[in-house]
Amino acid sequence: MFVSRREFLTSASMALGAAWRSPLWSEVGPNMPPHPGENPLLLGVDYYPDQTPEALWEEDARMMAEGGLTNVRIAEFAWALMEPEEGNYQFDWLRRALDVLHKYKIAVILGTPSAAPPPWLTVHYPDIVEVNERGERLRPGGRRFSCPTNATYRRLSLAIATQMAGAFRDSPAVIGWQIDNELTLGSSPRCYCDFCRAGFQSWLAAKYGSLENLNQSWGTVFWSQHYTDFAQIPVPLPSGADPNPGLALDYDRYQSLANASFLEEQLRMLRQTCPQHFVTTNNVGLPLDTIDLRTLYQNLDFVAFDNYPGFVDMLLEQRGQASSLGADFIPNAIALQHDFGRSLKKKPFLIMEEQVGKAGQSTFSPQPEKGQIRLWSYQAVAHGAMGINYFRWDTATFGAEQYWHGMLNHDRSKSPAFDEIIQTIKELKSLGREVLYAPYVADVALVFDYDSSWALKIQPGHYALRYGNQITSWYGAISPAHTGIDVIGPADDLENYKIVFAPVAYVITEPQAQKIRSYVENGGVFVANFRLGVKTESSQIVHNSLPGLLRDVMGVTVADYVPIYSLKQAVKFSSILAGADGECGIWADVLNPQQAEVLGTYTSGQYASRAAITLHSFGKGKAVYVGADLTGPSLARVVRNFTRMAGVRPELEAPAGVEFTVRRLGNKQWIFLLNHTPQRQMVKLPGNFRDLISRQPETGNTELAAYGVRVLEAS
Ligand code: GLA
Ligand code: ZN
Repeated sequence: MFVSRREFLTSASMALGAAWRSPLWSEVGPNMPPHPGENPLLLGVDYYPDQTPEALWEEDARMMAEGGLTNVRIAEFAWALMEPEEGNYQFDWLRRALDVLHKYKIAVILGTPSAAPPPWLTVHYPDIVEVNERGERLRPGGRRFSCPTNATYRRLSLAIATQMAGAFRDSPAVIGWQIDNELTLGSSPRCYCDFCRAGFQSWLAAKYGSLENLNQSWGTVFWSQHYTDFAQIPVPLPSGADPNPGLALDYDRYQSLANASFLEEQLRMLRQTCPQHFVTTNNVGLPLDTIDLRTLYQNLDFVAFDNYPGFVDMLLEQRGQASSLGADFIPNAIALQHDFGRSLKKKPFLIMEEQVGKAGQSTFSPQPEKGQIRLWSYQAVAHGAMGINYFRWDTATFGAEQYWHGMLNHDRSKSPAFDEIIQTIKELKSLGREVLYAPYVADVALVFDYDSSWALKIQPGHYALRYGNQITSWYGAISPAHTGIDVIGPADDLENYKIVFAPVAYVITEPQAQKIRSYVENGGVFVANFRLGVKTESSQIVHNSLPGLLRDVMGVTVADYVPIYSLKQAVKFSSILAGADGECGIWADVLNPQQAEVLGTYTSGQYASRAAITLHSFGKGKAVYVGADLTGPSLARVVRNFTRMAGVRPELEAPAGVEFTVRRLGNKQWIFLLNHTPQRQMVKLPGNFRDLISRQPETGNTELAAYGVRVLEAS
């Protein structure tokens, strides 16, 4: 009986049970990469045969095979070569490339090319090009310039993908598909063209049913915006003043869904034509929020993310943010992204692109330090990756990414990190299956909510208030408590967690409030901070006192909410949070405790001695309101206090800059130790272990080299 890859996925996942609902890579079907059974990880490279003289393909494939690479991802930008004019499909070159790769047992992930429509297409159909937030139409010449709603663009994207699928469905080299490329990332992530406007209007008609309902939900009586026909509804382009917040939030939702439904068209086709292949797409993860990735990945087989820590480093320096964010920011941001990737589908995720050298388009990022690429690879696996594709094999001598270094330099010599990558692949293959299949342990959840993120971007309340920054700094504060973190959505189950953090939960719906209420009633610890429950789903301010629907659970009302500018504010902690006064960054919710206990008070101005932090016992659980925007060490101290209160016991105490994750299966346990600092670090181990990399026993204190890694198996 023929069992498709997807059916296998489902049945094997049931067999594996709870936390990992799917097997790691090598179980997924007939076209397995080399070393099935031994190597459950995909360890590949992003490759561009389309940009490489054919005479070099064989050498490339041979070198990849010698280096132990299992697979490539190819063709995601090769539309013009595959369809040089409309309806004229040319796959011979790609077939030859696949033959060479297959000869060396390199498996192939094929990318559909819709992220870069060719010139003939934009000349024939100029209105497929998107219109940006200022109402200007972009120009072709870069990439990611197309409108997700446009029917012609959709038709032609589906057509080329369908032809590819037909041509390669039976190719023994192909194992799966990447649809498009980084739908989340573009210079203007929303389109405001007439097609999008029409699409928005029909989406609104379906969502609201009647104009009366829509007018009511948005409060269109304000500024004479009452609509008497869906065709009158605008998109939020510049119009003399700020748009209606309800309309603007719905537009974010619509654009996010337009991208998801664009992807779904290709997905449906691939499911039919290539049932034996996996299908995914790649994106950068949090804190970028342009598309709701929960929806985007819903029907895909697994999540795939791209990871460029050095590029982030360069961006932060360029924006002058690096020193204020601190050295831990980047490792934390990557860990957050990985945890989000794993949590989205509660299964292993793939790193589709991993930085291997200096990265950039017009400027270079720093060269990763020796050991850092290995460290980033282990970090991904530690958080639940099923594989890593290094970006990219060679380095282009032409095109916009000449500065994006691959494993080979411009002259095809080995890059400074080449040997490190090959060594890492070898090590990762030798870890054995058990640790990789063992579920990641997370007793803490951090809520990331797209509605809150979008609504707050529309009306931040304080120019410096960014939802993504809040999530990242809370993640960073939870991390030193050294427990595993799942990054969940507001609709996800909370019961499995000892403590749930929901920073700036600005939009709270009735069902979400109910979920939180019963979680706390049943013994959970819920921690929120300022701007909690301010908005309804339609981005109207709630009618009752803040925190709106959660007033009973939190046991407080918000007496006043205070953006902070030149007049600073601080917080004095009471005994259980004892420690130096905390600085209050950009916001202070001043609390009136009803039944809640006060754990911190403001120190200055008209709010001196008023409550800043409260703790409320509600049912069998506790609800904490952190009204102050605490920064740095005081946020970390407060967070640690509450994780401890929730019974979260970190497996070990690691020095600053050393991260760890825990895997557990039955009574077996593993700890990944990751040193993100350029210094050696000592870590006191909580028992006897064996390092799966060095194969040496480790007890007492273990030393981590600069950027060093250990994968410890408890013995
Ligand atoms: C992205 C893309 C790739 C390439 C790399 C380097 O994340 O997916 O196509 O552009 O970054 O720029
Ligand atoms: Zn559009």
